[in-house]
Order: sequence, then C-alpha cells, then structure tokens
Amino acid sequence: MVTILVLHGPNLNALGRRDRHHYGTLTLDEINRRIGERATVLGVAVEFFQSNHEGALIDHLQERADGIDGVVINAGALTHYGLSLKDALTDAGVPVVEVHLSNIHARESWRRHSVLADTARGQIAGLGWRGYTAALEALAGIIGDDAAEQAT
Ligand code: DQA
Repeated sequence: MVTILVLHGPNLNALGRRDRHHYGTLTLDEINRRIGERATVLGVAVEFFQSNHEGALIDHLQERADGIDGVVINAGALTHYGLSLKDALTDAGVPVVEVHLSNIHARESWRRHSVLADTARGQIAGLGWRGYTAALEALAGIIGDDAAEQAT
C-alpha cells in the first residue's frame, strides 16, 4: 500500500490555541484525524510526526525514508530557513508537497520565501486544514502517475 508521511514542524502542536486568525481553530489531532479519514477514502496509509526540533524531523525522515512513498510537510517557520531539513527532504528521494495553513504570500515579507519550495512538487497555502487533505489527494495521484511512468 502507498504510504505517505505527514510531517508537522515547530509550534504546530499548539494549533487550536495559537493565532487562530491565521491557523484556524482545529487542533493538530483533529487535523490528523481528517487527513486519516481522507487517506481511508483514497486507499493510502498515512503516518504522522510532529516535532519542534529540526534535527528530530530529519532523524524521523531518515528512519522512515525507505518505507514511505511521499511526504506532506508543513515545516512551520523552518520553511523559511531550514536548509538541513530541505537536504533531508531531497535525500529522502520521494515526492513532497508543502502545506501552509495560512497564505504565507499575503503575510510578512520573511514568510513569503520558502527554502523548501523548489524541493517540493508543489505548495498549498492559505486553505487552512483543507490544504492537508488536498495535498494528500494530489500526492496520492502523483505517486500513482510516477509509478505508471516508471512501468512504461
Ligand atoms: C505556517 C506559516 C509559517 O510562516 C509559520 O511559521 C508557521 C505556520 C502555516 O501553516 O501557515 O508556523 O507554516
């Protein structure tokens, strides 16, 4: 079965309490539950990991790289400067979709640049929790397309 790792970076464990205007009212557990429900419909397996530490995210990616087919990631503020995380995503060698709850392009100028963006197949920003389920659906399709292409 196709397995997708959903990675959540720093401060996303505080969703539901932090800056609800930008990030909504759902907790991370509630978002993960919705992602899990969509995964069931799509027929893919999902794994979740959150850390406030870049190294822990990298360790987890390295540990799981051989067992996963793709990554959905909201790297929090590491999005804007996390070059070690970017390298780990590249090294994982699987397609990546970047997600942001808020529209990072409509906020402070430092949020507008993502160092992960050119590592990812695409980016979804500003759609709230729905961005994760949209990313999961897109990634499942991309993994299927890649497999079909490799088979020809
Ligand atoms: C975020 C946007 C980042 O700039 C911020 O540091 C976050 C969350 C988002 O989901 O909109 O922690 O990635």
